[in-house]
Amino acid sequence: MKKSLIAGNWKMYKTPSQSVEFVKLLLENLKEYEDREILICPPFTSLFPVSQIIKNTSVLLGAQNVYFEEEGAFTGEISPVMLKDIGVEFVICGHSERRNIFGETDEMINKKIKKVAEIGIKPILCIGEKLEEREAGKTFEVINYQLENDLENFEKFENLIIAYEPVWAIGTGKTATPQQAEEVHVYIREFLSKKYNKEVAENLRILYGGSVKPENIDALMKEKNIDGVLVGGASLKVEAFKRIIDYIT
Ligand code: PGA
Repeated sequence: MKKSLIAGNWKMYKTPSQSVEFVKLLLENLKEYEDREILICPPFTSLFPVSQIIKNTSVLLGAQNVYFEEEGAFTGEISPVMLKDIGVEFVICGHSERRNIFGETDEMINKKIKKVAEIGIKPILCIGEKLEEREAGKTFEVINYQLENDLENFEKFENLIIAYEPVWAIGTGKTATPQQAEEVHVYIREFLSKKYNKEVAENLRILYGGSVKPENIDALMKEKNIDGVLVGGASLKVEAFKRIIDYIT
């Protein structure tokens, strides 16, 4: 059975002590689900203390970024080997904030997902169009371009997760409608089916991200091709994140 994935991306929020406090509260009365996985992606400085608390629980640990070399003279960077050593199982790669604020290119993102998968961590590849691209009717063109380039020569698809995050819906309170999201998810699955094969396309989890909140989670998760969500703002509050985890379909 393909489990859904409910992932929280904390971005640059929460100190290590705030992170620990959050996770302790989250674990209190957290329901156990057979059909879903729960993931939190705190900032780098919180990864180790959080890893100590979620050990032997159902909550999984992810990082928000990584460099594509294992070690070396790369001041300020963190390698996938370092992440793996502290129990990180997932890494968000190519988030639109990394692309747009920090100038990450598709070439860099491609190198990141390859290295991460090679080390045995699951990359969560983020793709999505900007508002002007959607308005110009270029959504599928952009998605196609990102998939072509980010997945070039990438074969470790069993560990890959894709997150469709329309840039215009991130942090804006504007969510894509379930239908708008589903349409792009279907497109992504067709792309994967052509690039790899039908089985890979069906098994690969495609998450939706962009202003996911308790009010819209149930409708989003009802869509056939939405296999989970990547949640920013609403993952910072225990109550809201719990409600998202407890989505009802
Ligand atoms: P948001 O962020 O839920 O705050 O819109 C989503 C994301 O950037 O992954």
